Amino acid sequence: MSVRAIILAAGKGTRMKSDRSKVVHSVGGRPIVSWVVDAVLAAGADDVTVVVGHGADDVVGLLPESAAAVVQEEQLGTAHATGTALEAMGDVSGDTVLVVPGDSPLLQAETLRALLETHSGGEARCTLLTAIASEPAGYGRVLRVGERVRAIVEDRDADEAQRAIDEIAVSTYVFSGEGLAATIAAIDNDNDQGEYYLTDAIAAMASEGGVAAMAGADAEEVQGVNDHDQLAAADAAMRRRINREWMEAGVWMQDPAAVYIDADVTLEAGVRLYPGTHLEGATTVAADAEIGPNSVVRDSVVGAGSKIWFSVVRGVEIAAGVEVGPYASLRPGTVMAEGAKAGTFVELKEASVGKGSKVPHLSYVGDAEIGEDSNIGAGTITCNYDGIAKHRTVIGDRVFIGSDTMLVAPLEVGDEAYTGAGSVITKDVAAGSLAVERSQQKELPGYAERRARRAESEGE
Ligand code: UD1
Ligand code: CA
Repeated sequence: MSVRAIILAAGKGTRMKSDRSKVVHSVGGRPIVSWVVDAVLAAGADDVTVVVGHGADDVVGLLPESAAAVVQEEQLGTAHATGTALEAMGDVSGDTVLVVPGDSPLLQAETLRALLETHSGGEARCTLLTAIASEPAGYGRVLRVGERVRAIVEDRDADEAQRAIDEIAVSTYVFSGEGLAATIAAIDNDNDQGEYYLTDAIAAMASEGGVAAMAGADAEEVQGVNDHDQLAAADAAMRRRINREWMEAGVWMQDPAAVYIDADVTLEAGVRLYPGTHLEGATTVAADAEIGPNSVVRDSVVGAGSKIWFSVVRGVEIAAGVEVGPYASLRPGTVMAEGAKAGTFVELKEASVGKGSKVPHLSYVGDAEIGEDSNIGAGTITCNYDGIAKHRTVIGDRVFIGSDTMLVAPLEVGDEAYTGAGSVITKDVAAGSLAVERSQQKELPGYAERRARRAESEGE
């Protein structure tokens, strides 16, 4: 007997007012459908079939190889979607079929596992996940007679007494495969929306082999994403969950509500995060690093004890003990070796800054390599672009680049060389040399006095 999962993700998501399928929108930095597929796989599903339709190509592009996709050409309702999946899955009569909505990113594997266990421990043809909602409007309501589940009625088809019920259906079911396809095929579309409702399978099965319910799912966990308000709510809930886990793992956050960590980020114990920190993509941060306030770090590696504040860092490798910011922009391909610094109003692009080297103020360094223990004076710019092509600047070890040097690439500055402040350097500088490029300073002694006298005589 296998557990075979169906994820319903073909719907249009009309209320998102978006051309994209709603399940590709991001929650906690990952597409909604990816969370659902992972939960289903982690719950022990042997195979997964995702029903796609609206925006199918985008959704299919997000699925792992282990998930199959079937296209529901017309979105005629959740029963029709389930039937479409079953057709593609072949004979399920000996199997258990888990059905999950594609728009519930917070649903956890443990909950699905518990639902599967409840089902296999009982005799029911269907075991239904339900929740108690403080605001049940919009959801299907669970109708019971005594303890027994009899049916689900959709909000728009419910009468006033039924609308007062606060136990809701959350589109999450475990079915015994035997006879499932036939039951679903028999469902009609005689309802307010003229759709084939999977919820109608409950009334049918209640009268045959019985329906069990696993009540008390956490209302936040089962919340669906149907509009932008719910998308923001799900994102906030996911963020709380992610942050809570990192705090348990030893990460310090001054204000967790203002820290945004994507699902694929990895942190070590002792990391310190200030408000306004966004850690995105495949970022890793080592112990005792400090990030924020107000920083974005995407697809980057941050070494132990490094500090990044008020800065934007994308696709960068940062070793231990590095300082970045305030107000630095580190662009892709940049590598900061141990103890290096990129200070205030500094932009680096595809630049490697060697051990202990510093670019402390107001510089642009692009397509460049800086050796160890070099200092790049304030206002220095690598002129890497001649309007047609990009060129490299190579700076050696223990180099002193004077303030406001223009380094016109391609260019090499040898070890222990100096450049004079304000120089426009267009030729290579040999190791140990000083290169100055500026006109001689002229001095006119007594100028101020002469000028003052002239002004006086003109005034008479
Ligand atoms: C559905 C349930 C409702 C439950 C609610 C929240 C039905 C009839 N109603 O309503 O009882 O309270 O979810 O869990 O099932 N989908 C398809 N193909 C279709 C129609 C829908 O794949 O033809 C997919 C959607 O993409 C979505 C899921 O099924 O992921 C649920 O559909 P949706 O339109 O969101 O249903 P609700 O009105 O929320
Ligand atoms: Ca829904």
